Amino acid sequence: GDGAHVPVLVIGTGYGGSVTALRLAQAGVDVHMLEMGQAWETPGSDGKIFPNTRTPDYRSYWLRTRTKQPLSNFLGFPLDKDVPRHAGILDAEEFAGITVYQGRGIGGGSLVNGGMAVTPRREHFGSVLPSVNPAEMYDVYYPRANAELGVNHVDPAWWETVDCYQYARVGRKHAQRSNFAFTLVPNVYDMNYMKQEAAGTATKSAVDGEILYGNNHGKKSLPKTYLARARATGRVRITPLHRVTSVTRAGTRYAIVVEQLDTSGNVTATKTVTADRVFFAAGSVGTSKLLTKLKATGALPNLNGEIGKGWGDNGNVMCGRANHLWDPTGTVQTSIPTAGIDNWAAGGAFAEVAPLPTGIETWASFYLSITKNPNRAQFTWNAAANRVDLSWQTAWKQPSITMAKTIFDKINSKEGTIYRTDLFGAYKIWGDHLTYHPLGGAVLNKATDNHGRLHGYPGLYVVDGALIPGNTTVNPFVTITALAERNIERIIAEDL
Ligand code: FDA
Repeated sequence: GDGAHVPVLVIGTGYGGSVTALRLAQAGVDVHMLEMGQAWETPGSDGKIFPNTRTPDYRSYWLRTRTKQPLSNFLGFPLDKDVPRHAGILDAEEFAGITVYQGRGIGGGSLVNGGMAVTPRREHFGSVLPSVNPAEMYDVYYPRANAELGVNHVDPAWWETVDCYQYARVGRKHAQRSNFAFTLVPNVYDMNYMKQEAAGTATKSAVDGEILYGNNHGKKSLPKTYLARARATGRVRITPLHRVTSVTRAGTRYAIVVEQLDTSGNVTATKTVTADRVFFAAGSVGTSKLLTKLKATGALPNLNGEIGKGWGDNGNVMCGRANHLWDPTGTVQTSIPTAGIDNWAAGGAFAEVAPLPTGIETWASFYLSITKNPNRAQFTWNAAANRVDLSWQTAWKQPSITMAKTIFDKINSKEGTIYRTDLFGAYKIWGDHLTYHPLGGAVLNKATDNHGRLHGYPGLYVVDGALIPGNTTVNPFVTITALAERNIERIIAEDL
């Protein structure tokens, strides 16, 4: 309530926030988490908590009146449609040069993501987090993160034969015929549950195409892992539909301004609470926007000049390939990706073979590539418009396209196939307008010390993807989780 005091406030309930809350609670500290999205515990009128990818509805988008589907078109037809403005689960946040997709609700990105749980190859770690000792990460914190997240592997024998991974096997065949390394990657989706779905003995979820707008069954999202264990300590309270707008110094404490939202996104109350310590876990974009605004408006003037800098898109770029009629990818495609083409060392690209769970045969192979794009953007405060801008430009994706082409030009030439031009708008090959993997903006050892303590303000910490300088070489959430485990262990030992 208004005027309350808490020892620790955590802003956001994604990976960084969930790790932080669990470990602080286990150390005997009472933690209050604020989350601007919904709790996602109550079924809608169809009896399901989350809507299907094929039928987005009022639950699907964060405060938009029209959907903004990552694949905007199919066979030339635009797919987007009007929806009522609602505190939905997927935010398609638009900046001038890029749309950044993010999860909204208790669990953050874990609610909407593909669950690919990939640890970077150790030889690449120096480029991911240059100030962090790789030995401690690979010996202690990556294993800890993998265990707590419930990372598991698909049974290769089952993967070889089941209908719902035909699209991935076609992806492998084409990769291998062009001599690319092809790897199965771990996931947090419960692979035994998926086997039962495919066998018809459990309610279908991934096999029915659920992804992007939540998953009703097999995905081990944060509310089933870290947050369940955090709540079980009895020391963690989580309040949904509360958005933090300000943090300032108040004597030896911090004062936090919070807007309470209704499910249409209207502000129904504004409250001020105080805390001894505040952990920024609002995600790369959420944390960077808050800190950029607070520094520029004088709320936290002593934050250093690194705030807002070093933001990258993890080199995300999408494309589709048109297959020959003898290479169907299947009418049933599980939404959970398990495989990728690794051309990182030679070409700077790791391409996930992604599903197109349309329910019909598309003869398309679809890929989300993570590339070594060197471009980095900055968040700045736009006082006239009362908002935070991001300097990323669409043309900055060109290095990503060039790197992805090291894979797909070669496959197309070997297979005698072409790129699809109908998935992102008319005659557009590359999905270069978006990212799923925002990283950076309050970079470790620059905006903070080497464990996430913000310079200038004892008791303020960054614990999420904002710490990572723009690229993880693979999908990011295992690294975000492992880094949060490393940092909170040190903070508990030294600061409490
Ligand atoms: P995260 O974004 O998870 O959490 C931040 C939370 O803070 C959100 O719940 C937000 O609502 C809340 N918040 C923000 N501002 C606030 C404020 N002012 N007040 C209160 N609350 C606030 N990664 C991966 O490794 N494998 C994968 O397969 C995928 N796939 C994928 C698909 C899609 C569609 C998306 C959008 C993303 C992915 N990702 C992914 C990316 C992954 O989900 C992402 O990197 C992490 O969720 C980031 O974790 P963080 O802890 O940094 O923040």
